[in-house]
Amino acid sequence: MVDLNAVHEVTHIDNVKLNEDETAVVIIDQTRLPNHLEYLSLSKPKEMYDAIKLLQIRGAPAIGIMAGYSMYVLGKQHKDLPYPFFKQKMTDLGDYLNSSRPTAVNLKWAIDRLLAVVNSGEGEPVEVTVNRMGIEAKKIHEEDIEMCRKISEYGLTLVKPGDGILTHCNAGPLATSRYGTAIGPIFLGKERGIDFKVYADETRPLLQGARLTSYELQKAGVDVTLICDNMASMVMKNGWVQAVFVGCDRIAANGDFANKIGTSGVAILAKYYGIPVYSLGPTSTIDINCPTGDDIKVELRDPEEIKNMWYSEPMALAETKCYNPAFDVTDHSLLTGIVTDRGIIYPPFKENIAKLFEKKE
Ligand code: MRU
Repeated sequence: MVDLNAVHEVTHIDNVKLNEDETAVVIIDQTRLPNHLEYLSLSKPKEMYDAIKLLQIRGAPAIGIMAGYSMYVLGKQHKDLPYPFFKQKMTDLGDYLNSSRPTAVNLKWAIDRLLAVVNSGEGEPVEVTVNRMGIEAKKIHEEDIEMCRKISEYGLTLVKPGDGILTHCNAGPLATSRYGTAIGPIFLGKERGIDFKVYADETRPLLQGARLTSYELQKAGVDVTLICDNMASMVMKNGWVQAVFVGCDRIAANGDFANKIGTSGVAILAKYYGIPVYSLGPTSTIDINCPTGDDIKVELRDPEEIKNMWYSEPMALAETKCYNPAFDVTDHSLLTGIVTDRGIIYPPFKENIAKLFEKKE
């Protein structure tokens, strides 16, 4: 018997929302999970910037939703400015929030949607423009719920009951809204009584796989096994993995995609073992203006994350040099398909992504 309540407690979690009077953005502080479920209320630009930078909210779609709500909340604070000053203020605030993390396209994409509302406000009372910003921010959130649901449906068609699925980082409800992307099909399957065996890479250095993915799946009653990143080859060799499902932070026009550091290594291993690799993400994560993976800016993070986090004592000498890229780019040749809300894109990726965007226009 499936415990639907347990599944929905995970899939329908409010990871990002507006407070009641819409003066603050409320998020789950993901840096405190899995041991503490704590909420943060953000109303100042610096708090919003830090929440993204410090990964209190993370995951490409969730960052986008949060950025949309943030722009709206900040817009309300400046609603008494004359329009030209209001427009300049919102543009500056958009630039500021956008500088918090460079790789996930959804951040800029959401800020640009809110700025488009601002830019179309000439001639109307600023308050009316701000109200329209609220409508747009909520629309981004609602669209993401819908897109995650569709991605989960499409993803579910790619696997059969009992399959082993390996995932890297966290692309679940905490990183999106409802169900998630990469592990959305697993939750949807669970709801329908279809069971999978999931292998969750712990995902060094910030452990999103251990702290968030295994937490979400375990809570929903899914059979999940946590492994260290360097164990992926072993579980694949053992024949335990039938598909790799990962998320994405930016998909280039040729199908190369950035995702959490370690994803490209997983894809290379999967190719060796003949296991299909799928990247699951909303069409908002496809950056049609980014020709290839070489054009994606990869975020470099503080070396202290490698040396000084999670263990009670430092794991390296303070003077040890570290290289800490947050993402890597997986070449499209390693990818079996891209699962989007508008269907599954197969090779040739460049042509098929272009076709999808032509249809969208
Ligand atoms: O640094 P993070 O935790 O924001 O990285 C997240 C990922 O790489 C996810 O896989 C990606 O954002 C997709 S979330 C649906």
